[in-house]
Amino acid sequence: MAVLRFRALVLTVCLVCFYAPTPSSSASSGDFLHCLSASIPSKLIFTQSSPSFTSVLAAYIRNPRFSTPGTVRPLCIVRPTNASHAQATVLCGRRHGVRVRVRSGGHDYEGLSYRSVQPETFALVDLANLRSVRVDRARATAWVDSGATVGELYYAVTKASGDRLVFPAGLCPTIGVGGHFSGGAFGLLLRKYGIAVDHVIDAVLVDAQGRLLDKKAMGREVFWAIRGGGGESFGIVLSWRVRLVPVPPKVASFIVPVSVNDGAVDVLTKWQEVGPALPDDLFIRVIVTNGWASFESLYLGTCDALLPVMRGRFPELGINRSHCREMSWAESVLYVYVGSGQPIPVTDLLNRTTSMDTSYKVASDYVRRAIPRDVWAEIFGWLAKPDPGIMIVDPYGGAISAVPEAATPFPHRGGVLYNIYYQNSWAAGNDGEPNVRWIRDLYAFMAPYVSKNPREAYFNYRDLDLGRNVVVGNVSSYEAGKVWGEKYFKGNYKRLALAKGKIDPDDYFRNEQSIPPLVPVSFISNRVPDSVVGHKVYGVKEKI
Ligand code: FDA
Repeated sequence: MAVLRFRALVLTVCLVCFYAPTPSSSASSGDFLHCLSASIPSKLIFTQSSPSFTSVLAAYIRNPRFSTPGTVRPLCIVRPTNASHAQATVLCGRRHGVRVRVRSGGHDYEGLSYRSVQPETFALVDLANLRSVRVDRARATAWVDSGATVGELYYAVTKASGDRLVFPAGLCPTIGVGGHFSGGAFGLLLRKYGIAVDHVIDAVLVDAQGRLLDKKAMGREVFWAIRGGGGESFGIVLSWRVRLVPVPPKVASFIVPVSVNDGAVDVLTKWQEVGPALPDDLFIRVIVTNGWASFESLYLGTCDALLPVMRGRFPELGINRSHCREMSWAESVLYVYVGSGQPIPVTDLLNRTTSMDTSYKVASDYVRRAIPRDVWAEIFGWLAKPDPGIMIVDPYGGAISAVPEAATPFPHRGGVLYNIYYQNSWAAGNDGEPNVRWIRDLYAFMAPYVSKNPREAYFNYRDLDLGRNVVVGNVSSYEAGKVWGEKYFKGNYKRLALAKGKIDPDDYFRNEQSIPPLVPVSFISNRVPDSVVGHKVYGVKEKI
């Protein structure tokens, strides 16, 4: 139904910009805004002179580090209420040489959904108005729009199914579906059910020609690419159809902090063997901070069933009945996310606002061989330095690791013991220099103990320290992109670049870490001459 609705809307949009020019330095802002206002109601367009421009921009900035006077802001913000508005923005952008960036929940760790690192004229398509969730309980599926948060998705699905169906995605309820799903998306169900993109069965995409494409129309390679390769490289994903997964009406959870004085180094060292090898129904992650390791769990069963498993497999943690709480799965998301040890009402899943008090920088690693005990002792030394950050380690194994590396662009599967997330935060307004230095120094220290060739990183934990695109002839370079692309995607990077070459060879959808287009040389030479289509078609010269 949703696809039909979108298809009907496509007819309302002019498609004369099919072969419009690729944005360059000669962007025509005035003509672009004029084109927009001819196709989209003015109340959905916010130019820099609109009184609400700043508040609309800030509404989904999650990292105040990228909300400063020096931040490169969009020329305007468009808040579509239907697909035709997103299509029109792309078509106007192509015609008048203005790129678009897309924002769903605004949680990008480097702010790439709403800011450009270099001066650039771009428009922001903000999907905050497109956030419906339509659950089909009988089929155990749902359509969810990209502007919904995962909290809204979880709330709708658990309400519609009486807490029997859920969706395996991230823990933080305010993450936007659009950026989160298109980058992989994992949460506490990763060992039982894998990650969000393992359960996406259809999607609706606006491509660089302004077309509205479902799974069949976008083709196998592009549908593969948007499930983990980052939506921003391929277009605007408006909606996703997902397969829901069953859970028991009550699940069990514990949060148990262990101090270094009480043996955190030993327990954490042991966790590396145990965490990735537990039954798939049990997930235990660890938040590692100055002097503490806090063990947080989700078990798809009762406390009575969990306790013998813990006694048998991980007695070092000393879990007893007093540590364990039973609750619905929806409650467990908030219980673990907030981590206060107190139940939180499930309606809090619908809260879209987050704090703007702290800025942050993150990085990530994958561990394939357990880190020796003495190294963990040294890591606790790093966490005791001035201006320290934290680490979160998520165990893999089970369903996430059973999927072949090439099945989706997310390649961190078999053989991964766990993921490391490094974060350092500081009060908004400070420059954060010591905090960023801490994270970079720790990342350098960790090199011998984590995955190598490539040193893997999780795309959704965006880190511009890994590298940025180099633009050659108005197209991002495939070769230069390898430096960051192979860390996020391993061998899937090349296939992503080929998919990009199919759907957006002109590199219209581009940011500092978008996939560069790769077009086979034979295909380029078979193309009609530039003069026929009225603009330069391909700048890609690299051979594959
Ligand atoms: P945002 O809107 O900033 O978009 C991120 C990127 O995707 C941008 O490049 C953007 O252009 C692009 N994009 C967004 N919507 C698009 C669309 N509709 N079509 C095409 N491209 C689109 N991750 C995880 O796996 N598990 C977790 O538990 C968490 N937890 C978490 C907590 C917090 C507080 C933060 C800040 C982040 C996480 N993350 C996470 C990381 C998260 O998955 C990642 O930042 C996502 O990209 C966020 O998606 P948003 O839509 O919110 O971001």
